[in-house]
Amino acid sequence: MHPDCERVLISEKEIQAKVAELGRCISNDYAGKELLMIGVLKGAAIFLADLVREIAVPTQYDFMALSSYGSAAKSSGRVRILKDLACEARGRHIIIVEDIVDTGLTMNFLAENLSSRDPASVKICTLLDKPSRRIKPVKIDYKGFVIPDKFVVGYGLDYGDRYRNIPCIMVLSPKIYTNKGE
Ligand code: IMP
Ligand code: MG
Repeated sequence: MHPDCERVLISEKEIQAKVAELGRCISNDYAGKELLMIGVLKGAAIFLADLVREIAVPTQYDFMALSSYGSAAKSSGRVRILKDLACEARGRHIIIVEDIVDTGLTMNFLAENLSSRDPASVKICTLLDKPSRRIKPVKIDYKGFVIPDKFVVGYGLDYGDRYRNIPCIMVLSPKIYTNKGE
């Protein structure tokens, strides 16, 4: 247990089992095809690394970086590309891999952006879904866990770039992000 966290929401074991299940599902759906998985930096890096090793079809991966929360626990509402793909999206079967879909602003933007590059297909895979705060609609094709409206960290998810290396998903204590004028 981390001192800045309230409780464990999802254990390492539960994450592992879910990642394996998602990998099986994706492998079945893309049998005979080649995949391009696109991880959203930095949060999705750990999930992507585990997920690609559970996928049985030929898979390449790349990363994009988008502006999002910065160090605050609130969304700015604007999305910008900070780092684009190093490879071509045209003609590829793409799965966007994200750590969490919250307001949906990031995924809504990214799915539209990648769809405009003439790919063969675009689907969305997220480890966590926080539907209670959705502002923009997002069609999630592969979903790990639906979570309540709590700020969570670990397994790649951060607050102020910290806590990413916690191996499970934990609820951050509100005292960490309140009383800071955010
Ligand atoms: P959205 O654009 O509001 O859907 O936010 C997506 C991004 O916000 C995610 O990629 C995360 O980086 C961040 N985010 C949203 N909720 C949480 C949370 O509970 N913990 C950590 N990061 C979060
Ligand atoms: Mg993120």
